[in-house]
Amino acid sequence: MASDTQSVPQGAATRLAGIDATAPILLFDSGVGGLTVLEEVRKALPDAPIIYAADTAGLPYGTKTEAQIAARVAGLLGRMTERLRPRLVCIACNTASTIALGMVREVLEVPIVGTVPAIKPAAAMTKTGVIGLLGTEATIRQAYVDRLEHEFAADKRLLRYGAPGLVEAAEAKLRGEPVDPALIRHAAEALRAQSEGERIDTVVLACTHFPLVEAELAEAFGPDVRFVHGAQGIARQVARLTAGQEYSRQGPDLALFTGQGELPGAYAEKLAHYGLMRIERF
Ligand code: DGL
Repeated sequence: MASDTQSVPQGAATRLAGIDATAPILLFDSGVGGLTVLEEVRKALPDAPIIYAADTAGLPYGTKTEAQIAARVAGLLGRMTERLRPRLVCIACNTASTIALGMVREVLEVPIVGTVPAIKPAAAMTKTGVIGLLGTEATIRQAYVDRLEHEFAADKRLLRYGAPGLVEAAEAKLRGEPVDPALIRHAAEALRAQSEGERIDTVVLACTHFPLVEAELAEAFGPDVRFVHGAQGIARQVARLTAGQEYSRQGPDLALFTGQGELPGAYAEKLAHYGLMRIERF
């Protein structure tokens, strides 16, 4: 599995010198999708203090406008970096990254790693030359995705489908609820129904939520389809940008959720699996 990640602008790496060993890595997503990235970051950097932040009050991003998403992401990350003082921010969300990465980098003084659809590795993997791309509705219409297609898959056929139902399915699964098989089936059928869709052999999971339901998708697509997403590549990029830094974890890692009210109890157990033993509202 490989990925396309965005490196920090030149010069940002030099600002990493003299980092406080307790400074966390901040992973940000609209919901629980970024946990698929957290899992890989944890493997790459087991000693790193991590804060996982989910904008549950803004979930889902995929059905919002570009302006709404950009405003939320830039505003929240501004407040979060001020309050939490991370050494690096990872936007573990394709929707937020493809829309707001450039803007956020303009305003924040901290290195930022984004998440963009893994079209490049998918183009290297496909044998039939037909690639499916499942993302949110907002992601699949981005010029950023057009550029990746043009650069890495110009000689392939890339079929896109915006699948908000899969975000819902992944969130339900993390709450400990059963996944509605119709949501999964619908996403697979929507790609297969497009011209040449029956020849798809590689599917890009272009939303960090979707690897959470990869097993269910694999069943719906059948054994001849392989999936690719960016989590491992993102973790490698985070490790590269923090190479040589010291880590000191003062307590259990923290999960932050925007919005009000009680979080479902089932979350706590799942979050503990990802090493997030403290849960708070932001
Ligand atoms: N996890 C997000 C992504 O990677 C988006 C989910 C949503 O809020 O719609 O695109």
